[in-house]
Amino acid sequence: MEQTELDQLLSKMTLDEKIDQLLQLTGEFFESEDVVTGPTSYLGLTQETVDLTGSSLNVVGAKKLNHIQKQYLEKNSHKIPLLFMADIINGYKTVFPIPLAQGCTFNPELVEKSAAVAAKESSASGLHVTFSPMVDLVRDPRWGRVMESTGEDTYLNGVLGRAMVRGYQGESLLESGTIASCVKHFAAYGAPAGGRDYNTVDLSERTLREDYLPAYKETIDEGCELVMTAFNTVDGIPATANKTLMNDILRGEWGFDGVLISDYAAIAELMTHGVADDEKEAARLAIEAGVDIDMMTSIYVKNLKRLVEEGVIPEKLINDSTMRVLQLKNKLGLFENPYRDASEELEKELLLCDDHRCLSREIAGESIVLLKNDGVLPLQKQNQKLAFIGPYVDNTSLSGLWSIHSDKETVVTVKQAVLDKIGEADVSFAKGCEILNPGVLIGGFGGEPTVGPNDSVAAQEDLKEALQLAEKADVVVLALGEHVVQSGEGGSRAEITLPEIQLDLLRKIHAVNHKIIVVLFNGRPLDLREVHEKASAVVEAWFPGTEGGHAVADVLFNDVNPSGKLSMSFPYSVGQIPIHYNMFNTGRPFKKGNEGNRFASRYTDIPNEAFYPFGFGLSYTSFEYFGLTLDKASMSSEEVLTASVTVKNTGAYTGKETVQLYIQDLVGSVVRPLKELKGFKKISLEPGEAQTVTFEITEEMLKFYTASKKWESEAGKFKVFIGPDSCIEDFVEFTLVK
Ligand code: NOJ
Repeated sequence: MEQTELDQLLSKMTLDEKIDQLLQLTGEFFESEDVVTGPTSYLGLTQETVDLTGSSLNVVGAKKLNHIQKQYLEKNSHKIPLLFMADIINGYKTVFPIPLAQGCTFNPELVEKSAAVAAKESSASGLHVTFSPMVDLVRDPRWGRVMESTGEDTYLNGVLGRAMVRGYQGESLLESGTIASCVKHFAAYGAPAGGRDYNTVDLSERTLREDYLPAYKETIDEGCELVMTAFNTVDGIPATANKTLMNDILRGEWGFDGVLISDYAAIAELMTHGVADDEKEAARLAIEAGVDIDMMTSIYVKNLKRLVEEGVIPEKLINDSTMRVLQLKNKLGLFENPYRDASEELEKELLLCDDHRCLSREIAGESIVLLKNDGVLPLQKQNQKLAFIGPYVDNTSLSGLWSIHSDKETVVTVKQAVLDKIGEADVSFAKGCEILNPGVLIGGFGGEPTVGPNDSVAAQEDLKEALQLAEKADVVVLALGEHVVQSGEGGSRAEITLPEIQLDLLRKIHAVNHKIIVVLFNGRPLDLREVHEKASAVVEAWFPGTEGGHAVADVLFNDVNPSGKLSMSFPYSVGQIPIHYNMFNTGRPFKKGNEGNRFASRYTDIPNEAFYPFGFGLSYTSFEYFGLTLDKASMSSEEVLTASVTVKNTGAYTGKETVQLYIQDLVGSVVRPLKELKGFKKISLEPGEAQTVTFEITEEMLKFYTASKKWESEAGKFKVFIGPDSCIEDFVEFTLVK
């Protein structure tokens, strides 16, 4: 449709019809017509309103959605199609590693490909919009939703957020196999006080603008079609009613003209937050702040008309919001083809097809981070007696909390993958213990709460079997981790160790066999001090997705040489949080060797640095960096400076290395971080091979939010570090001349 046709369409719609386009409901509303006892009753909606609703949430499946669309269009006099949105976070049926793990690949091409597969599969199942990427910056591993983000770094989040948007949306939404992308949660949802989900966010404008906002902006610049608001407050005002954030920054400064959707029931929460007295006030605040779609409350449909009729808000606000929804439907080609790709045949062809599984295995392999290895890894495929022990050995819960549309039976377990790879001659398997301590209760996610099982006889048997196997084995592989419900939305934790029952298993196994490789399945950085101390090797596998078992086996047996680098720091203990590599110097920095000096910024009981730092990850081979140089000692704003370093594979295996560029601005009008990631390149080197890696440094990379509240660079000296992780100390210097 042309814009003029959309204008005509809008002009023919009644106010009610326009407002109904701004309502989003979950699937149950469209699958039941029973207004009195059916789900519609709890929002107090009439069937007529449901029939005119603009979009649906988390209903999937070609057959179901085509049926819903057909019925919907039959009742819709303007023939405006229904929009189907869902959370496709790390894959649809073929599940990829959780986003935090994808961050560890430092591989935007792979991340883009996985998003493209998620788009292909979910569009075949009838979906039009995904609520992804989440680019919330995270610095607190207590927050369960760190698993949905690509980590603690502004630059990395921006690069990977862009990659996801490109993957989902392709070149044009009119192409088959694409879906529109919705970036979330605007803004700063990743900074809840104390890491407690939904808690208050209190950031300075500087931190907000410099660290938290840029990744959202990157996705908008990439053409992301939608933005979702956040549940939290920003400077005392809930994001969903925050005019500064949405009208001034998002739409004003950044020129975003797409659809802004509230998070689930977030408009109603304006009353709970205590900024709106009643629903009418909540509706006014949200629409005035530019929120187009009301997800899962009836506040807009019950109040916007009144607000217009009473002259409190101009009808133009409704017209603008409705037009944005219509424009999105038009961009997706829905007016011409309301069924788009939805087809059962296509589903059969695409969902979980070999190519998609292959990609999932590849990206999972690249997201695994080797945290420690005293030489016990890689394992031999023969002549080594192996015992795989732990609650994650034969477990299909490898996809993380958000894989709500996938089926557990399709997941390859570690046990299955090991048997596929080496047969059963030299290997044995045992559970050892449950994931959670008996009686621990954690709220469900779309289901019943999870309770740690309490069968002491079975527990004794499990432990006995595990210890017997461990005693006889040459090497024990312990597959441990968090329960899938311990991370994700509502999954905050105050302690971030492994559940005690599993630490106890580790201790008991360690008493009979010291050769232990711990493989971890978890959704956040953990306090791994005890694991590190007892294990000969530690492998961070995160929640790796459908092909998780294969990916882990590939790494353990060196069919894939690990190359993942941490996208988030692992602290010594919760006491260090918030911890991230790009800290400030402070006026009294602590220098190693100066422990006797009391008056330095330090903990007296643990180091200041992370236990495993950002960007860190080992390989089965080794890399040497040398010859760090700059092509000139100074540059002007118009010039480009080239930094280069040579990287050599000095070990025995072919391996991939992520070469990381960090810059430090030595003196600024405001204090500057000790290091900031400004670029990275992932290379592959054969044993003995060397490659010179170059980075171009431009003035753009040196800009920040200065004391004059402008995004600009300042003349002066800069340090350039290029190395394997954020701890790199070697640097060269240059001067920016203005
Ligand atoms: C609430 C979550 O915060 C958000 O990320 C998600 O997209 C919506 N629910 C819809 O399921």
